Amino acid sequence: MKEHKHPSEPFRIKSVEPIALLPRAAREKVLKRARFNIFKVKAEEIYIDLLTDSGTGAMSIDQWAALMRGDESYAGARSFYRFEETVKDITGKKFIVPTHQGRVAENVFFSSVLKKGDYVPNNTHFDTTRANVIHKGGEAMDMPCPEADIEDDNPFKGNIDTQRLERFIEEKGADKVPVVFITVTNNSTGGQPVSMANIIEASTICHRHGILFYYDCARFAENAYFIKRYESGYEGKTIKEIAQEMFSYVDGALMSAKKDGLASMGGFVALSDEKLATKITELLIVIEGFPTYGGMSGRDIEAVTAGLKEVMNEDYLAYRVGQLEYFGNVIEQAGAPIIKPTGGHAIFINAGKFLPHIPPEQFPGQSLTVELYREGGIRGVEIGSIMFGGEDPETGKKYNAPKELVRLAVPRRVYTASHLDYVAETLRKIAARKGELNGFRITKEAKLLRHFTAEFEEMTSEQVEVS
Ligand code: F0G
Repeated sequence: MKEHKHPSEPFRIKSVEPIALLPRAAREKVLKRARFNIFKVKAEEIYIDLLTDSGTGAMSIDQWAALMRGDESYAGARSFYRFEETVKDITGKKFIVPTHQGRVAENVFFSSVLKKGDYVPNNTHFDTTRANVIHKGGEAMDMPCPEADIEDDNPFKGNIDTQRLERFIEEKGADKVPVVFITVTNNSTGGQPVSMANIIEASTICHRHGILFYYDCARFAENAYFIKRYESGYEGKTIKEIAQEMFSYVDGALMSAKKDGLASMGGFVALSDEKLATKITELLIVIEGFPTYGGMSGRDIEAVTAGLKEVMNEDYLAYRVGQLEYFGNVIEQAGAPIIKPTGGHAIFINAGKFLPHIPPEQFPGQSLTVELYREGGIRGVEIGSIMFGGEDPETGKKYNAPKELVRLAVPRRVYTASHLDYVAETLRKIAARKGELNGFRITKEAKLLRHFTAEFEEMTSEQVEVS
């Protein structure tokens, strides 16, 4: 096993937010009150919160200072023009449409390009992207590369399967596929990066068939850093040069700026097609806001603008990716199997493998998520059969997720090595008695996106054995 030291932070801490671990009995009470759904636990009841890296990062002194520059004019605010110039500089696109978060960029974009019955291929859709495609009558097709499922050190497991993409387009006809997406990094399969070679190949295929090619670029800077580190020919380039090259192969991009925008709120659509930009902007005004603020306050826009510049700092990215490598390493040493290599924003524990005595129908990922809170006040999220399984409302067919995972997402610039060591220590304690962990049963669930609101009952060990 490779040793990874925790990187030395390229910042010092100027402001702190107190956190505390509730006593064990209180944590038990919290779990019962929340019906074992971690989304229903209050933030103040959590010690280490690894639910998401979205909007949860710490801002820099430049970002906090920039808030005061926020121009709150309804139309034509100075803040917008600074934001527009920054996004244009990175993406090279002519039109920048601001939105308050990623899913609204998805909404205005897919509403403007999709017809009922269209297909949208993607390396892997994030849930909100999938939901927006479906909501506009499209079908969301995931095409992760075959290497994603092989246990080796391949650094670009986020790639799209280009052979499958080409076959799919030929089979369905280019007129049924208005746009192809690549998500950088590929959140849903492990936060893993996409190589420039794969981007170029996918771009060539799309453009040969006259199909739009877009990014979901929530974590573009983390992706660019992996390219610099692992793809030959990019060692000597700056992150900004790599990002600019990445964006040169796409027709446009949707971004949730809550990740690599290093801000709590924000997003955009970037594109060069004037007609499409006009259509998107018309809808934006109806559902989101005027085109020079799009749902963000001037302050938000300033924080994102400063964040987008800062995120491309190589010392920061080396620290960020190094921290994830360190975290993956200590978790593995504690006895929990993870998806490797570690990606840019989260560690994915293979709960199915960790808890082989709990079958997918009894949700091993849920069992580990609950135990992380019960043992250590830690919040992670199940990414398995609760999130992706269930029953097809039309056919009644039951299905499970391909893997039973628990995601521990790491907020940017928030937790130190000792916080991460604490999480690993908690996992070590759980690993020592993992055979005692129980499965779960759903007692109440919604039809769509059930993981957010479902209620659960913990099964007894006898129930686990007989099933
Ligand atoms: N695309 C990707 C790749 C994402 O990871 C997310 C959000 C979105 C789009 C939607 O953006 O939340 O600003 O509307 N991901 C968060 C997560 C929620 O926890 O992974 P949003």
